[in-house]
Amino acid sequence: MKEKARAARQEQRIIGLVPTMGAMHAGHMALMEHARRECSTVYASIFLNPKQFAANEDLSRYPRPLKEDVEKLTAAKVDGLFLPSAEEIYPLGFSTYVAVEGLSDKLEGKSRPGHFRGVSTVVMKLFQIVQPHYAYFGRKDAQQVRIVQQMARDLNLDTEIVVCPIVREPDGLAMSSRNTYLNGEERKAATVLHRALQAAESEIGAGVRDSLQLQNAMRKVLQAEPRARVDYAEIVDVETFDPVARVSRPAYALLAVFIGKTRLIDNMLIEPAGDELLVEI
Ligand code: PAJ
Repeated sequence: MKEKARAARQEQRIIGLVPTMGAMHAGHMALMEHARRECSTVYASIFLNPKQFAANEDLSRYPRPLKEDVEKLTAAKVDGLFLPSAEEIYPLGFSTYVAVEGLSDKLEGKSRPGHFRGVSTVVMKLFQIVQPHYAYFGRKDAQQVRIVQQMARDLNLDTEIVVCPIVREPDGLAMSSRNTYLNGEERKAATVLHRALQAAESEIGAGVRDSLQLQNAMRKVLQAEPRARVDYAEIVDVETFDPVARVSRPAYALLAVFIGKTRLIDNMLIEPAGDELLVEI
């Protein structure tokens, strides 16, 4: 992979990298298409990174439809797939980690200790191997992409992080490889995440700025779904991911919700109307 990427760079090609864990869906493919439009060489990686899964998590049952993934990448005219083994990425004696402090300990990081250390470490390694000009990430994992951006800034990386919008199913459910875990009833129930986010959005539209009120609007929708168990439902600052009391500038409504045994996350950028922003300035 290093040799290929180096050769492409020497040919003055603009290299884009789309890191994934496979089980490609339309959300992944939107990243590929975005990269295809901006770069002359697009690489995808599939690596089911053991270091970002805790012992009790779903690493062993995570879907691995490699043949279908390769077909999708071929159809999307991706130039190459990096498919390393766990032994290649983490050989015996591996002992160096990248940890983005602070941001990694909140929300997803609090519910999944060590998760973001695994993410930042593997993303750093992928960047070192490919040295892409651009790397593409989805807003679906808003905290993850914020952490990757912080890492790129803090460590003076030459890779520019490009953030792409959330791709949803027609009924609003955010695309996720984990949606395949849901049975029929759970799949229907899973739309509750998006409906809860929409409730917050419509409150914002109606002039509500108080975070507690916005959270309550989300919780009310979530509580009405018996299959849903809330892990967190928060309104946070887009930079720090700390809770905000009032939405006076853009914020994220962030959700992590169990539907049965499947943990799903989703989010929405909520912003006060433009004229209010001007008043704030
Ligand atoms: P994975 O969950 O496979 O996601 C790969 C990329 O696809 C991430 O940037 C993610 O945000 C994006 N993505 C997933 N669902 C999306 C959706 N519905 N709309 C838009 N983008 C979506 O995230 C990871 O893998 C890993 O943590 C990784 C970054 C590869 C490091 O191991």
